[in-house]
Amino acid sequence: MRIIAAKTEKEVGLKAAELIAAQVTTKPDSVLGLATGSSPLTTYAQLAAWYESGDLDFSLVTSVNLDEYVGLPGTHEQSYRYFMNTNLFSKINIDPARTNVPSGTAKDLQAECRRYDQLIEDLGGIDLQLLGIGPNGHIGFNEPDDRFHKGTHIVTLTERTRQANARFFSSIDEVPTHAITMGIKPIMNAKQVVLIAIGKGKAQALCDMIQGPITPACPASILQLHRHCTVVADEEALSLLKRCSGAA
Ligand code: F6R
Repeated sequence: MRIIAAKTEKEVGLKAAELIAAQVTTKPDSVLGLATGSSPLTTYAQLAAWYESGDLDFSLVTSVNLDEYVGLPGTHEQSYRYFMNTNLFSKINIDPARTNVPSGTAKDLQAECRRYDQLIEDLGGIDLQLLGIGPNGHIGFNEPDDRFHKGTHIVTLTERTRQANARFFSSIDEVPTHAITMGIKPIMNAKQVVLIAIGKGKAQALCDMIQGPITPACPASILQLHRHCTVVADEEALSLLKRCSGAA
């Protein structure tokens, strides 16, 4: 696992965006696995800036997002579809028909899980998967559990995750209790993984992920087995890691 340390949130965005730009430049028809939340915001802003300046072209890119809240339609301001449209898709020249987010309002959610797995398979898998990490070590909405879930599945969000995401809603009661999330298999099969971590709230999770045992109790720890995983993090997120490793 490669670790890139950055000083500021903006620099984290720059470093992560550089990796994505390299991917899209060398393979214009890349399949990008994308994440929502606070972590990728500066990355998306940088990608949009490079598109604006004519340095990046997303016209042949396909995207597959990690997850969506169950019950929120794409028009809901807190849905992940809305987040992606607002923070990235509307700012670059990606073909909207080639952007994919699992549906949290499908009548048959199990069928939607199967459809999403098939979609990723039909696309030939993911070239670069962008990830954030939850304070509890989740990736996508693969929450701590007693096993790793391979495919797209419906998950009951932990209280910790709902609390962490409550900042985007007017009250904790409005935070959905369930989500649909990509499983571990397509993430581990992605040719490249880039995980972003910002702030001291992520320090313990990052330490467990990189230096702890590989266990579904910390889903991100499975990335220790990934062949091409880069962590881009600020000093606060890396602070416990240094202590764990005994480095200065
Ligand atoms: C979002 C996702 C989540 C977030 C994680 C961190 O699509 O899959 O795993 O990456 O919860 O969220 P932030 O970046 O808001 O701290």
